[in-house]
Amino acid sequence: MFPYISLTTIYFLTIKQILLTVRTGLTDSICPGEWYKVIDKIKKCTKCKLHKTRRNPVPGEGPCNAKIMFVGEAPGGKEDETGRPFVGAAGQFLTELLGMAGLRREDVFITNILKCRPPNNRDPEPDEIEACKPYLVRQIRLISPKVIVTLGRYAGRTLLGDAGVKWTSMSRMHGKIFSVELYGVKLKIMPTYHPAAALYYPKLRPVIVRDFKEVLKALVEELANEGKRGESGRPRTILDFLEKS
Ligand code: URA
Repeated sequence: MFPYISLTTIYFLTIKQILLTVRTGLTDSICPGEWYKVIDKIKKCTKCKLHKTRRNPVPGEGPCNAKIMFVGEAPGGKEDETGRPFVGAAGQFLTELLGMAGLRREDVFITNILKCRPPNNRDPEPDEIEACKPYLVRQIRLISPKVIVTLGRYAGRTLLGDAGVKWTSMSRMHGKIFSVELYGVKLKIMPTYHPAAALYYPKLRPVIVRDFKEVLKALVEELANEGKRGESGRPRTILDFLEKS
């Protein structure tokens, strides 16, 4: 009787997981059920006016146990069309920047402050940020990343502000590392410019490149080797760090 009941339970739990996985479009089965519930809620969300004009909500993409998280502003046209974050021109540049920091896109979690596109890509409004923030808070608590890179002033101001760091200006704060406790998670935040800003203002390109290529890369290398060596005694690489806890 007991093995029969537990097998039935396992069967239904697995079916539930598969259904949630299919609904959320994610295939990563190591994530807790709560993870899929959040994505499901984002997909059905009507908490602010943006649900009336969006085509697809964009919950975010990447492993639920990612060590590094990137938080942008809000989905644009391509993201709204596909339901995936940073897939337009700014996204292509972000993928390039990740490579410069020694990171692969599939190893990091990428999301936004707002999960739905503001009409004509206008700036996020305070009521939209407030309505949407609980989703990001839950994502950050579930992922519990070591590093969050904020892309653009909305993400920087919101997350650093919530971590008790006063936002001054992007030109003063970008490329600096803040060790904070954010929503109960101890982590480091590196604010930087939004990749789209560097596409509009070519002078910003070397600045954002430096933030990724020098500051972020050095930070991730340092975290990879914090108190640990690889199996052979050699320093752990960034990829060792991303793949193993
Ligand atoms: N800009 C953002 O802030 N986020 C995206 O997902 C795409 C463009």
